[in-house]
Parts: sequence; C-alpha cells; structure tokens
Amino acid sequence: MSNLKYKTILLGVCGGIAAYKSAYLLRELQKQGAEVRVIMTRAAHDFITPLTFQALSGHVVYTDDYQSEQRGMEHIDLARWANAIVIAPATANFLARLAQGRAEDLLSSLCLAANIPLAVAPAMNREMWAQAATQANVELLRQRDITFFGPDSGEQACGETGDGRMLEPDVIVSLIANKLFSHGELAGKTIVVTAGPTHEAIDPVRFIANRSSGKMGYAVAQAAQEAGANVILVSGPTALQAPAKVKVINVVSAENMLQQVQNEISHCDIFISVAAVSDYRAATNAPQKLKKQETLTLELVKNPDILATIAEQHSDVFCVGFAAETNNVKEYALTKLQQKKLQLIVANQVSADAASVGFESDDNVLEIFGADGSHYEWERANKSQLARRLISLISEKYHAQHTS
Ligand code: PMT
Repeated sequence: MSNLKYKTILLGVCGGIAAYKSAYLLRELQKQGAEVRVIMTRAAHDFITPLTFQALSGHVVYTDDYQSEQRGMEHIDLARWANAIVIAPATANFLARLAQGRAEDLLSSLCLAANIPLAVAPAMNREMWAQAATQANVELLRQRDITFFGPDSGEQACGETGDGRMLEPDVIVSLIANKLFSHGELAGKTIVVTAGPTHEAIDPVRFIANRSSGKMGYAVAQAAQEAGANVILVSGPTALQAPAKVKVINVVSAENMLQQVQNEISHCDIFISVAAVSDYRAATNAPQKLKKQETLTLELVKNPDILATIAEQHSDVFCVGFAAETNNVKEYALTKLQQKKLQLIVANQVSADAASVGFESDDNVLEIFGADGSHYEWERANKSQLARRLISLISEKYHAQHTS
C-alpha cells in the first residue's frame, strides 16, 4: 500500500510555466490515495485556471479572491487540516517571500501558520536560480528544514539549458512519499560517499590530478540523503556547493581521503566510492618550487586503493565502486568488481567519443554489474536522476542482502 494513502496534502501553485505540471502532480497524488487541496497565488492564474484544479480535485480551490462563508480563517484551518504542504512550482519570488516570513497572500500566510512538513519544488530560469539572492534564500530555507525537491537540470521553457526546471510530477510524488511521509528507504543507514578528484602534490605549486568535477559523487550523496540516510561525503577538491544536510569532509590527496574514510567507516552500512582517486603520487613532494629543466623525470609511487582497503577490512559494509573506462568497459568493470570484492560496480564510458558524458558533464550513461550476476544499462540522463535511480537500486540490493 502506498504510504500516501489517506494523507492530506496542500498543493501550493505559484505563477510559472511549470504550473501545468501541477495538474499532473495532483492526479498522481490522488492515484496514490492522498487527499489534496489546492491553493494558488494570484500569478498562478495567468498560467492555469482554478477551475482546472477544482475539476481535478473535486474541491474548491483556495485563492486570494476566495471569500470564506465562515471566519476568514482559511490559512489556519488549512494548516491544521494538512499533513504536509508541497509548493510546486515554487518561483524565485515565492522563495523570497517564504524566506522573509511574509504573510501577504493566502499561500504565504498559510506557510507561516503551519507547523507541518513543507517542501518546495523550485521552477525558474537558470540565471534566477543561480543568483546569489535566490541561493541565499534557498540556504536559509534549508536551514529551517524546508525540503527542496530539485530543481532539475535540462532544457527550459525560455530555450536555455541549465538548473531550474521543475522535477517531473512522478519524481515529486516519490520524493513526497520518501521524504515527507516515511523515513525513506535508507532511513537509519549511514553511508559514506567519496567524490571528486584527488590532488597529489609534486611541489608547493603543482599537483597530479584528473578531470573529475565531483558532480556524480555529490549527486549520489544528495540522493542518499533524500532517501533518508545519514550521509558523510568525503570530497576531493571541487568547486561544488555542499549538498544540504550532508556532512562534508574536504580532503586533498588519496592518503587524506583514505584516512578520513577510515575515520568514518566503523558505523557505516554502505560505502559508495565515486571519487576518481589518483592511482599514483609523486615519490617525493619537493619542499620548494621545482626549477625548469630540459627534461624532468618524476618518480611515482602507487597510492593506496581506498575502496579495496575498505572492502577487505570491513566485509560487513556494502561496497559500491565506480569504474571510468575508455574501452572494454564490461571486462574491466567486472574485473574491478571481483578484485575489489564489491557488491556493485557502476561503469561509465569516459572516452573522448562518449560525447559529453562521464567526467565534468551534467549527464552520464551508466552500466551496472552486481556481484549477484545482475546487469543494468541506463541511458543518458542527468547525474541527479541517475543518482536517485542508483540509490534505489543500492537500497534494494542492500535490503535483499540483509533480510536473507
Ligand atoms: O566527478 P565527475 O566529473 O562527475 O565525473 C564522474 C566520474 C567519471 C569521476 C565517476 O562517475 C567515476 O567513474 N568515478 C570513478 C573513476 C575512477 O577513477 O575509477 P577507477 O576505475 O580508477 O577506480 C575504480 C574504483 O576504485 C572507483 O570506485 C574508485 O573510487 C576506487 N579507487 C580507485 C583508485 C584508488 N586508489 N582508490 C579507490 O578507492
């Protein structure tokens, strides 16, 4: 049975082009057995009519023009009626009103009057989402335990591409089920994720590194957090913002990374090694900047293999590796699965002809092999979407292993 059955949800709709998706969201929530009431901001009327929601929900739609026959206390009554509030789409303007605690319309008044879980699914142009003002509001709202569903990345209504699309209704429904009405499929589990590259110093100004941006690892950490896990992200140097509600430990080299993972692993249930760890480091780290010479020979020594070490020393931890391969993807991935004693390995093509997937890109293509013989091929998609799918798969395999 869906955990949304009999749940009472207030669906807030703001004025954005994604408002039409809210009609689908309403239907999906109803299909799961939830009871939904809709509140629209005045700007939302420009994109979709209250009548649409009224017809779909079978209930009056609350707007700023709504005339109560009773006491004019709708914001209080609705706040007491609902189990949760979901605002989709949530515009930049609405996030700003929410962050400032304004009560200038029915929806913002209701949010102030409510003491129930509140989630927002932002939808806006990518520049509006990236603006420092919006990001500061997002940060503040997250600190106040407001849950963010997305935004997604991809082509936008304005024709631009980037972060700011509203998540698809079916994804929002599963996030509502997993994040607002359950402790999540990985609730109570602790997961350590590594991400990004490592930097191996040659001298005070130079290092050996690789093209990993950290995007895949951060997306995995975020998805694990959304699934209810307690997440520790051990990150090599990246330019990314820390995912909300995730403990981030910044490291530089492979040796630092191993040390920090070992510090955290004892109470951990699952280890997901997404980092592109440098296999080698310079045998000596010159104390001063090396001077230019005709030729320079660097002696490299092997770095510890973090994943293999953890899998060897902690056989109770469910270990997932990643494999970035330019060729023979299946063969090399299967070899790593066996040699490193993993439960799953997630392979991705990183050759130059694998157009804009793998390293640095927002998208990826994954091929996954399980120690149980299972095999999955997932088409090109945004790293956040793939990460959510991967976390569901890991959860399924983890629970199967721990109930048998
Ligand atoms: O960061 P992005 O730009 O988003 O790019 C994502 C990614 C391509 C880096 C990511 O999807 C990925 O494939 N990560 C693993 C890359 C890699 O270096 O794979 P590998 O084949 O060298 O290592 C296999 C596994 O062993 C990995 O889980 C790795 O984290 C781990 N490993 C490797 C070497 C080492 N010394 N210690 C390790 O723990």
